[in-house]
Amino acid sequence: MSEFTDALADVAAATETALLKLIPAGDGPESQVIDAMRYSVMAGGKRLRPFLVLATADLFNVSRACSERVAAALEMIHTYSLIHDDLPAMDDDDLRRGKPTCHVEYDEATAILAGDALLTLAFEVIAHQDTHDSAKIRSDIVLEVSKAIGAHGMVGGQMLDLVAEDHVLGVSEITRLQRMKTGALINCSCQAGAILGKASETQRHLLNAYAHDIGLAFQIADDLLDIEGDPKELGKATKKDEAAGKVTFVSLLGVERAREQAEILTDQAMKHLEIFGEKGNLLRDLAQFVIERRN
Ligand code: IPE
Ligand code: IPE
Ligand code: MG
Ligand code: MG
Ligand code: MG
Repeated sequence: MSEFTDALADVAAATETALLKLIPAGDGPESQVIDAMRYSVMAGGKRLRPFLVLATADLFNVSRACSERVAAALEMIHTYSLIHDDLPAMDDDDLRRGKPTCHVEYDEATAILAGDALLTLAFEVIAHQDTHDSAKIRSDIVLEVSKAIGAHGMVGGQMLDLVAEDHVLGVSEITRLQRMKTGALINCSCQAGAILGKASETQRHLLNAYAHDIGLAFQIADDLLDIEGDPKELGKATKKDEAAGKVTFVSLLGVERAREQAEILTDQAMKHLEIFGEKGNLLRDLAQFVIERRN
């Protein structure tokens, strides 16, 4: 596992270098929004979505110069989603990645704008020629990402999550909610790596199945950590879901069954990687990490 820990640290470092380069400090009165963007993207985080982009692209020997730009773009989108998720109108959180949330450090309007600008910049980065010589590959990634994060993906999932506070949901409805809210961006991280790598239909299908399973396992782990995690290690407040009346896998299945379910999903995820042989080892380790993580 130490090979994996090193690889995760390397991805975090490479992603942070790329993010700083792609979001240079601004000047002029509008620079407050740029400061807020840099503040939130540089606040830490596991950089799991960049890891998925890079590890998937590495299966196909894609140049890191290309995959690191896409990885940074997806981390911008993830960070935008967290900034907005923490706003008073949504989860109303003060702590994120061990630091004051963006709207606490700046103000609500700046946090909304920083999120908007990160989302927009992500598409600029993907569409830019430096990301890939092939315009088709760039536009395929833009299409994949747009589908994953809009009203039928991440944003729709966030809406369902809010609506769920007033409705009783069953396991299949929660599964759909989580697939959209968290799974879609995780899935799209693998697909973006696969598009860069010109993966075959079969390879893309298997990576899709892998990401589907780890995405669900990841959200079950997030829900478990909300109950059992240490806020210091996690860098965010805990025991929020129950207080907000949120239905989660854990509230439906109980801690033990939810954990079992996450383990089943992880095993299943690894099976989908068989055709990649040893090259798939980092993605296998990531599947294990997703459920064992303490933050
Ligand atoms: C937290 O995501 C939000 C969810 C989608 C559940 P991460 O646990 O990946 O957060 P960071 O990026 O490491 O801070
Ligand atoms: C956040 O889910 C999902 C997105 C931002 C798309 P949560 O609300 O469960 O994430 P945390 O627990 O605040 O990190
Ligand atoms: Mg939320
Ligand atoms: Mg939240
Ligand atoms: Mg949560």
